[in-house]
Amino acid sequence: PSHASWDPGGAMALAGLPLADVAARWGTPAYLLDEDDIRARARAFRQEFGRAFRAIGADADVYYAGKAFLCTAMVRLLQDEGLRLDVCSGGELAVARRAGFPGEQIGLHGNNKSMAEIEAAIAYGVGRIVVDSFEEIERVAAVARRAAVVAPVMIRVKTGVEAHTHEFIATAHEDQKFGLSLTEGEVAEAAAMVLRHSDALSLLGFHSHIGSQIFESSGFAVAAQRLIGAQLEVARQHGVTLPELDLGGGFGIAYVATDTPLSPRDMADQLAEVVVAACREAGMPVPRVSIEPGRAIVGPAGATLYEVGTVKPVVAADEELRTYVSVDGGMSDNVRPALYGADYTCLLAGREGSDEQMRARVVGKHCESGDIVVNDGRLPADTRPGDLLAVAATGAYCRSLASQYNHVPRPPVLAVRAGEVTVWLRRETIDDLLALEGE
Ligand code: LLP
Repeated sequence: PSHASWDPGGAMALAGLPLADVAARWGTPAYLLDEDDIRARARAFRQEFGRAFRAIGADADVYYAGKAFLCTAMVRLLQDEGLRLDVCSGGELAVARRAGFPGEQIGLHGNNKSMAEIEAAIAYGVGRIVVDSFEEIERVAAVARRAAVVAPVMIRVKTGVEAHTHEFIATAHEDQKFGLSLTEGEVAEAAAMVLRHSDALSLLGFHSHIGSQIFESSGFAVAAQRLIGAQLEVARQHGVTLPELDLGGGFGIAYVATDTPLSPRDMADQLAEVVVAACREAGMPVPRVSIEPGRAIVGPAGATLYEVGTVKPVVAADEELRTYVSVDGGMSDNVRPALYGADYTCLLAGREGSDEQMRARVVGKHCESGDIVVNDGRLPADTRPGDLLAVAATGAYCRSLASQYNHVPRPPVLAVRAGEVTVWLRRETIDDLLALEGE
């Protein structure tokens, strides 16, 4: 289905490795990542955005959004491929630091960064702090002053655009926590405040993130126009041309066959076009533009391998048969179906299976009926206990959102390349969990 190196016919190998061998050696459940596929996607974003923006006389940077999936091996891969890194907590920053990732290529996000996080970021010399409130501007300025540095900042803006897949709203309600309001004049006030702290802060530009799992560029176009309009206002009022602009992440991927995301190439061309048009209209030079894809880089490159434990036919509400297939993981390793009603595609992984298909709902082993992994899948009618099952496109927001609900330890992350496995994160053990206990 969505997986680049995944044979929709039900191929049982990932990057040259038979999944049955992975299960035998490493156990289930396990997250698998196709390392070459991550690299190819990272490279495609960097090259295509680089090309498209060079063509309009500007530079483009790609910041991988670490929240999608992060570990030191991933950070080293990003560095190899020439990407930058967006982190949004002290923990994510610590992973980057452990991997030796250059501070000036890191952006720090968050709507409520702690003083410790701001101090750690400034001590590590991060290239940008995206400020999200007036309080934070004061805090960052105070920390920078104490460290005797000038901290580069961007201002997170509520553009009023909210986008999901094919639709976007140009006047989304502002009743959400991120960013400062354009229409209420907060952005202009924040910009003035940052500029006043010029001994401690330098203002790079404005930032917006309009949503996630987006298939079209039209929402980005409206956001870019509004950000550029706001940067023009700053130029008029303060005589300062802001050198950068960040359009955030949100580029969609295919989870099921009906999903139709844009390629990095098309997205790059369309964004370059809207940015250059908006700058021309405003009579401004094209700033350096950055984007923050997370899901689109790591999502399709991942799959989760489970073992089937029970198979239970049930008469569903529509009077048709539905077979509940229980696997040895669930909402602890993939909370997205429970949290967002997200759809996935499942495949029988260890053998061919019958030609006849059945309507299957893949469920986990947790104590909740909402513990669903694949809500409405198709599996061979002879799927039985002991079978291996793979769920595609689980590379993003599965391990990073995983929990140890019911004291179920988190699965390992295994990177596969040319038929070889490298353990990126080992399997958690029950002893790891018991080690947290007090006396
Ligand atoms: N930049 C900012 C400021 C963000 O808030 C996010 C995602 C991204 C970049 C990366 O977005 P991506 O390219 O990965 O869509 N847990 C949800 C997604 C939450 C995204 C939050 N912010 C999910 O699993 O669908």
